[in-house]
Amino acid sequence: MSKMPAVYYYDEHPPEADFYAEVIDGLKHRPRRISPKFFYDERGSELFDAICRTEEYYPTRTEQALLQQHAGEIAGLIGERCLLIEPGSGNSEKVRLLLDVLHPSAYLPMDISRDFLYQAADQVAQEYPWLEVHAACVDFTAPLSLPYCPPATRKLIFFPGSSIGNFEPEQAEVFLRNLTSVAGAQGSLLIGVDLKKDPAILNAAYNDRAGVTAAFNLNLLHRIRRELDAELDPGLFEHDAWYNDTLGRVEMHLVSQQAQQLKIDGQLFEFDKDETIHTESSYKYTVEEFIDLAGRAGFTSRQVWTDPDNLFSLHYFDVGD
Ligand code: AVJ
Repeated sequence: MSKMPAVYYYDEHPPEADFYAEVIDGLKHRPRRISPKFFYDERGSELFDAICRTEEYYPTRTEQALLQQHAGEIAGLIGERCLLIEPGSGNSEKVRLLLDVLHPSAYLPMDISRDFLYQAADQVAQEYPWLEVHAACVDFTAPLSLPYCPPATRKLIFFPGSSIGNFEPEQAEVFLRNLTSVAGAQGSLLIGVDLKKDPAILNAAYNDRAGVTAAFNLNLLHRIRRELDAELDPGLFEHDAWYNDTLGRVEMHLVSQQAQQLKIDGQLFEFDKDETIHTESSYKYTVEEFIDLAGRAGFTSRQVWTDPDNLFSLHYFDVGD
């Protein structure tokens, strides 16, 4: 008899008002800004997957190789039948490199993009019928609580893809500190962090020649037009991304190609030519910088793996010392 795949769904998606209020707030702010968490509607999630397959975007394939190579060692560190928690799980592709080796008791994917999350969770449950899957639609940038938390199970938080780079360093520290309480005293964190490197490599990764990253960035304007009934022409903005060496981050912007007005719900926003909306920061860290940051948040480094070209790092931390 084959076991029925077990999937449980938890919908704690923030109300649409959050999108509306945050966009209005961000457009009033100087410099204008919109949080990158709003990239990930259905289309945005698809475009992000496509970015990961571009030639120039090295993080995904580099991290996948590290996970594949070191899965055995990771399993040795966390032990059998852990509770595997993944904030921002997206298509749940990378976790597949761990599941067979780790053999967790349950997998908790969490994401802001609900339909995308539930489809991915169903797919994982079908491919791994022995695995219990608890999919939670949440905004993981808000304080996290676990919808499912069996006692006496060691927790491993899996946070790949250098998503941590989207936080301002002080916010990253706060977020990591929250993760220490999610993981608990016996818990651990497996996290992928993009490394500082030759700016030419970074600039290429965020300006792929096929224009997928540009489409991903501009999709935010299409989403605002559609969901907030805005009067705006996405064609009058252009994608811009570059490595800010002083701040150690790649910045993505939407640049107004002319003086223009946007209208959202009766409110007018006047743009000068070349004025930008800052849509994403992607901080890069040296191995030492990141161990320090995680240390301030309450994590102790147990292991770090990097690729031969030093493009990307995979860190394993325990809570406490
Ligand atoms: C998902 C935040 C890790 O910063 O590299 C990719 C998102 N933005 N290309 C990153 C992204 C543009 C990505 N993270």
